[in-house]
Amino acid sequence: MKLTVEALRTALLATADAIEQQKDELTDLDREIGDGDHGINMSRGFQGVKKELEVQNSLADLGELSKLVGMTLIKTVGGASGPLYGTAFVKFATKWSGMKSVEGEDLFAGFKEATEGIKSRGKSQAGQKTMVDIWEPFTASLQADSTLEEVIDQALVDTKDLVATKGRASYFGEATKGVQDPGALSSSILLKNIVEVLHD
Ligand SMILES: Nc1ncnc2c1ncn2[C@@H]1O[C@H](COP(=O)(O)OP(=O)(O)OP(=O)(O)O)[C@@H](O)[C@H]1O
Ligand SMILES: [Mg+2]
Repeated sequence: MKLTVEALRTALLATADAIEQQKDELTDLDREIGDGDHGINMSRGFQGVKKELEVQNSLADLGELSKLVGMTLIKTVGGASGPLYGTAFVKFATKWSGMKSVEGEDLFAGFKEATEGIKSRGKSQAGQKTMVDIWEPFTASLQADSTLEEVIDQALVDTKDLVATKGRASYFGEATKGVQDPGALSSSILLKNIVEVLHD
């Protein structure tokens, strides 16, 4: 499995479109167990990314591309999820600096660093019903012989039945059980679009 600059760019543009399509769904989930802004936040962020990608056509490597995406998300998203997604991409940039494509250990190292970055920025860990519950199993499965789409789908199923103990959703306590975490859903959209462009 290999991730190139062009492939990541394609995945990000596809994510921006998918977020637009699922914007209302993301917002509705956040209305149930949050403050009803996740779709709006993610839309603002990824439309910002799309605009940057359309004007910048000289992104030399995965480090430059990831850094641009991270900074754009931090600047535009607002809400808890902005700095968290932004951190993930800034962490990709630190691991993939100067690289035009990554595979194997380098691919894994980027996702490991990104997941650890989200956890340390959010002071969170797996099992608290957040985006970490998608990023962590996804990252672990990069080193296993598993189908990545299935890992993401299973992680979404598992996350849905957790009780939120972190972030705004934690105020809703037991009522969060059985409702999908909006950040878990948006993370699955992003990661599935990245899986789509990984090639042998
Ligand atoms: N501490 C955290 N660690 C990891 N993920 C988190 C944390 N806090 C929130 N999240 C994720 O962010 C998502 C909510 O993002 P959203 O864009 O709605 O921000 P918000 O919680 O409304 O922020 P704010 O309270 O600043 O308005 C959650 O569904 C969850 O997945
Ligand atoms: Mg919210």
